[in-house]
Amino acid sequence: MRKNNRLGILTGGGDCPGLNSVIRAITKSAISKYDMDVIGFLDGFKGLVENDYIRLDLKTISAIGYRGGTILGSSNRDNPFKYLGHKNGEETWSDQSDRAIDTLNNLGLDGLIVIGGDGSLHIAEQFHNKGVQIIAVPKTIDNDLSATDVTFGFNTAVDTASDALDRLHTTAESHHRVMILEVMGRYAGWIALHAGISGGAHVILIPEIPYEIEHIVNKIRYRQWHDKKFSIIVVAEGAAPLGGEKVVQKMVPESHDPVRLGGIGNMLAKEIEDLINTETRVTVLGHLQRGGSPIPYDRILSARYGVAAVEAFVAGKCGCMVSLQGNTIVTVPIRDAIEQLKRVDPQSDLVEAARAIAISFGDR
Ligand code: F6P
Repeated sequence: MRKNNRLGILTGGGDCPGLNSVIRAITKSAISKYDMDVIGFLDGFKGLVENDYIRLDLKTISAIGYRGGTILGSSNRDNPFKYLGHKNGEETWSDQSDRAIDTLNNLGLDGLIVIGGDGSLHIAEQFHNKGVQIIAVPKTIDNDLSATDVTFGFNTAVDTASDALDRLHTTAESHHRVMILEVMGRYAGWIALHAGISGGAHVILIPEIPYEIEHIVNKIRYRQWHDKKFSIIVVAEGAAPLGGEKVVQKMVPESHDPVRLGGIGNMLAKEIEDLINTETRVTVLGHLQRGGSPIPYDRILSARYGVAAVEAFVAGKCGCMVSLQGNTIVTVPIRDAIEQLKRVDPQSDLVEAARAIAISFGDR
């Protein structure tokens, strides 16, 4: 039998629109073009450790490309290198990576495609260092992976956030209110920046540009003096005031990144209402940004990533991630993608363009 004929795939980390489209593209091209066997592990790396999987065939993946979520399930808590167990009623953490590799060997798999974001790709790189043939596909609404122009799922999240801003506009205008939209993105402000520009926000607050409340309030007042009685603020969950801390919602100890951010929107609303006499309301967009169908851009990108991942696997590439550079799909080492988070450059032309159309970042 030809080598590189049996392939495993898993979806790790927080889900995002486009996962099913990647699963479909991988399975279709692996079976139709190369007559491979494809195994899908369930619930991210947990399925790999627990030997929990389904066989993917053309019937299983039929008509899933437009659906949100992942037919394989996902998890942003299960890390085989720090795996949660229980002994005598107590929680224990242990390295179960060898058990995961045994699963691959027992199933006769030649390699594994990991569809994941920063956390999952750190784990994928560790498996690569242990000799597993790993190909990665860059997934996350946060768009914070380096070495690729864009991750799939990001543009759908921007679409959702931008639509929310359109809706907030009309009600803000009717009631002369300040409306705050809190969006996701972890330590990067990509969703807030793109949605804010697209959705006509007056203030955009991102982790990369610390804000001062006085500047935000001045912007709202300035608009009021010019008979613009409402203002729209989009704040990234990771934004923080100059010299201040990010707002942490909860900790998930077994997760690769245990911090869950959230709550800055409500904090900001209280500060604004305390300083100026203007009604302020908060919408936390939350997981709506991760749910639902991918927009066509993400369906096409996911399909291209999936096909390229199979080609990389067949070519015997190891420890690499498929990546969009310009309009071309290439492969790059996974370590280049995870070495450092891709964050918004405060000097970039996108930030400058936003400033030129009078959007405030709360810093001046
Ligand atoms: O990484 C994707 C993401 O949605 C982040 O934007 C957010 O901070 C986090 O996941 C939320 O995680 P959870 O699904 O555990 O609440």
